[in-house]
Amino acid sequence: MKEESFPLKEARLRLLLKELGEHDELYYRLAKPKISDQKYDQLKRELEQLSSELDPLGLFPTKEKSSNNEADPKGVLVGDDRVDGFKSHTHKEAMLSLDNTYDENEFFEFDKRLRKVFGNIDLDYVVEPKIDGVAVSLSYREGELECAVTRGNGVTGDVITQNLLHIPELPRSINALKYPDFIEVRGEIYMEHEEFTRINQEKEEKNLPTYANPRNLAAGTVKLLDPKEAKQRQLRMVLYGLGACEPVDFFTSQIEFHKTIAEWSFPTVEFVSFVPSASQAWEEICKLDKLRHEYAYPTDGAVIKLDSRERQKTSGHTAKAPRWAISYKFESERQTTVLEDIIIQVGRTGAITPVACLAPVQLAGTLVSRASLHNADEIERKDIRIGDHVLVEKAGEIIPQVVEVVEEYRSNTSVPFSFPSACPVCETSLARIEGESAWRCPNYGCPDQLKGKIEYFASRGCMDIENLGSAVVEQLVDLKLVTRLDDLYRLEHRHLLELGGFAEKSARNLINAIENSKTQEFWRIICGLGIKHVGSSASKELAKNFTDWNVLSKATAEDFIAIEGIGSIMAHSLVSFFQSPENLLILESMENFGVLLKSKSVEGNFSPWDGQIFVLTGSLKKFSRLEASKSIENLGGRVSSSVSKKTNFLVAGPGAGSKLVKAEDFGVSILTEEEFISFIEKPDSLLA
Ligand code: IVH
Repeated sequence: MKEESFPLKEARLRLLLKELGEHDELYYRLAKPKISDQKYDQLKRELEQLSSELDPLGLFPTKEKSSNNEADPKGVLVGDDRVDGFKSHTHKEAMLSLDNTYDENEFFEFDKRLRKVFGNIDLDYVVEPKIDGVAVSLSYREGELECAVTRGNGVTGDVITQNLLHIPELPRSINALKYPDFIEVRGEIYMEHEEFTRINQEKEEKNLPTYANPRNLAAGTVKLLDPKEAKQRQLRMVLYGLGACEPVDFFTSQIEFHKTIAEWSFPTVEFVSFVPSASQAWEEICKLDKLRHEYAYPTDGAVIKLDSRERQKTSGHTAKAPRWAISYKFESERQTTVLEDIIIQVGRTGAITPVACLAPVQLAGTLVSRASLHNADEIERKDIRIGDHVLVEKAGEIIPQVVEVVEEYRSNTSVPFSFPSACPVCETSLARIEGESAWRCPNYGCPDQLKGKIEYFASRGCMDIENLGSAVVEQLVDLKLVTRLDDLYRLEHRHLLELGGFAEKSARNLINAIENSKTQEFWRIICGLGIKHVGSSASKELAKNFTDWNVLSKATAEDFIAIEGIGSIMAHSLVSFFQSPENLLILESMENFGVLLKSKSVEGNFSPWDGQIFVLTGSLKKFSRLEASKSIENLGGRVSSSVSKKTNFLVAGPGAGSKLVKAEDFGVSILTEEEFISFIEKPDSLLA
């Protein structure tokens, strides 16, 4: 019997190798995984089990060679993220992966294995969060950043320094009296949820495919070939590990490493727990699972590391992972449920979004009955059908997503979903521009587009009109009380009383909120107009550069392009928006209703920090880079990573190098940290 099953098992092993090779390609290189991490881990385990059963001596290749997986000189077996167009860099110490477990017993077995090596004594561990981002290795020679490199195939990675220079917390140098001659510091690049949502919204507006989660978007960003484009997407960074180090004994333990890099003001994780035994490590793992949702970075587990570097060396590593560390993966917030229907929504730009209607399911503390299906291609790629059992997850812990179909439960009678060819609201035939992922309703008068436009205008990120949510907007449009944006300012108390859900007081509150919005900041109005490609940061720039809408609406594409952060696509979109007589009419009408269509600074609130460009260099004692950047931005200034003729101020701490020289050449004002602090304390004195 056993012998008979061998060929079958071998066939399964080959299939697994092939499939995992494809999934590695999708995850690491293309940042577009098709299956969940859990499913991937499950396949990987099956592969490991089968290969140890069929091939105990390890003679069989354990990695299917994909086109880019060249023979690996050090035999490291990790996925490969390298793409064409980047310079290669060989890590001084290989970047390994980690063994995973979802099982408490397996964690204690890991400890048992190690204790066997060290005479069965309790071992010191460090417990840290496992950040779900993109691995990076930063090399510092003589205290200066030499390069930032991706993991690549574990041995050689891509040099991505240029794409990370806009990360304010990226340490350009080590500001300390004592540091190693050479060091590789390992960490993770990630993206905050807010930035992820902002970029996806922009993608949707441009009819481009959206990213499923912040990790994929961060991975896509570090691999952009144009650093200017990468600069438009705010990445963040956190560091937790040591690669090569000269001298090798500079650090004797993981906890010492953490404390030292914190002293160097490197961005570190907030949960680093030193414990004297595995049972206490387990307690910390459980604590971390509760705290991790508060962190700015996405986490999917805990990493437990043997603290002593000496012991780490003694325990060694396999081809894939160190024996002295393990990651305990937390159960992700996901559930299986039934996909009852797929409905089609029309967005404010006419983009058609399919939405999954689910049998309600409890997920991360909320009852979920809707999930995004992104676009027609996504439904086709995952072959999602009405009636399927689907795995639902909160992507980046916020937006519910359909991860995959549970194919075992699919009914024989199910049929592929057929995407509609006409708008479900106004029945206009849908159109799709070649190469774009979203279908669009081309009818600008489509009531759902208008609803979307009004909701967006009133939203928190724009005019922030409280109580003007979707239910109210729906009625206002359906009853034709609002047919254009400016109609909002025509609304009277008596109109609202016609709507369901309004009484005297609530009607007055909404009328007051609409009235108050007339003096909102100018950038919020620009943003609320929903001009294609123009989001909040561009709107802020526009409001800084154009004092009122009369000047703004007459600007040329060249005038727009001269503004930092505005490219030609956005410039042409602005010009075409202001060329439309209908749009000008709406703006004129708003002005007649008393909407303030100009910057308040014109009214006397000018801040001398507005538009001033700062560059930070050297070490700051009282601030982290991030804190200093935030203070500047809060006062209306901007932070740039490099000195140019446009730079207004260079804040130079000890250890400032080439930037100081360049700033002196350009005649940029140079501030010490103390001078900088005194300006922050008295912002009006900046240009005095
Ligand atoms: S230690 C040789 N610590 O997880 C030690 N890795 O699945 C390997 N990761 O490639 C890395 N958080 O990109 C370590 N606190 C942490 C981590 C961490 C996230 C990533 C890292 C690694 C991957 C392995």
